[in-house]
Amino acid sequence: MKPFDYTGKTVFVAGGTSGINLGIAHAFALAGAQLVVMSRRQDKVDAAVTALKAHGGVALGFSADVRDPAATEAALKAAHARFGPIDILVSGAAGNFPAPALGLSPNAFKTVIDIDLMGTFHVLRTAVAYLRQPGACIINISAPQSYIPMAFQMHACAAKAGVDMITRVAAMEWGKSGIRVNSVAPGPIADTEGMARLSPTPELSRLVADSVPLGRFGTKQEVADACLWLASPMASYVTGVVLPVDGGCSLGGAVGLARAVSADAK
Ligand code: HXC
Ligand code: NAP
Repeated sequence: MKPFDYTGKTVFVAGGTSGINLGIAHAFALAGAQLVVMSRRQDKVDAAVTALKAHGGVALGFSADVRDPAATEAALKAAHARFGPIDILVSGAAGNFPAPALGLSPNAFKTVIDIDLMGTFHVLRTAVAYLRQPGACIINISAPQSYIPMAFQMHACAAKAGVDMITRVAAMEWGKSGIRVNSVAPGPIADTEGMARLSPTPELSRLVADSVPLGRFGTKQEVADACLWLASPMASYVTGVVLPVDGGCSLGGAVGLARAVSADAK
């Protein structure tokens, strides 16, 4: 028996064509859901759809930038036209690079705010009309940067803190419509673009892993497992939370991650 059965459910993953978000999409597809993924690059969209279809299920993909609300809504509307109301919405598009605050041009800071924070706003705001009500579950992908200040991450810290406030406010406003809204905050996750950028050498990766209370990087599957639970009836009374899936980094263990980012950005 599958631990979670999402047969007949529709899952839309914004930024779902690589890394952690694609891992989440795969987990829901394996659990029986029909998947819709959206990101900027058509080649990544095509590759993700092909990979998701390998599970034997149905998958659709759209090329759109979360910074463009009209393009984002067009993808959600097309998903709704094909599958009906969306049951689970994952908002995970993000951009990041290590840089000192004084090395961030106004446009550099704005770019990360536009993708992570404004993008999350656009995805959620345009999606509500296409969600199952009652019953839908929204998961925003956050990061330890939301609650742990990190040097050389002023842009990402500001953006992800905003994402988690969107989670809390949306949970308050949409709860009575039967929509739950939560954040999942992965810690350092192995084999991802994010960690390739923030801890690019084996030495820095060891520094990061040593600082995590569980002593290692997490896996994409571990983040996906948390999402499977959060979207399930097992979590039906859970809304407005930021769930760290970070090996204990939220306890203060991300010091090594912060040091790694600093060492790389100098
Ligand atoms: C300083 C930089 C920079 C850098 C770009 N910029 N990289 N500034 N240091 N390393 C500046 C540019 O000079 C420009 O400013 C502005 O940012 C916009 O750059 P563009 O390349 O024009 O932007 P765009 O094509 O929109 O690309 C966005 C991007 C890119 C964020 C810069 O890297 C991207 O598309 N990333 C998506 C993939 C990604 O980042 N994945 C990792 C997510 S991990 P000027 O002033 O010159 O115009 C994550 C959290 C990890 O989010 C947490 C780990 C615990
Ligand atoms: P990733 O592989 O680069 O994933 C980012 C995804 O977002 C890609 O599918 C990308 O595809 C898409 N995307 C980026 N900008 C977009 C835009 N403007 N519009 C639409 N889609 C866009 O990175 P990752 O490391 O797996 O990170 C995934 C998520 O986890 C992010 O939210 C990140 O902040 C979070 N996170 C990661 C870690 C980690 O250890 N890696 C830790 C904490 C949190 P396109 O390039 O085709 O647009």
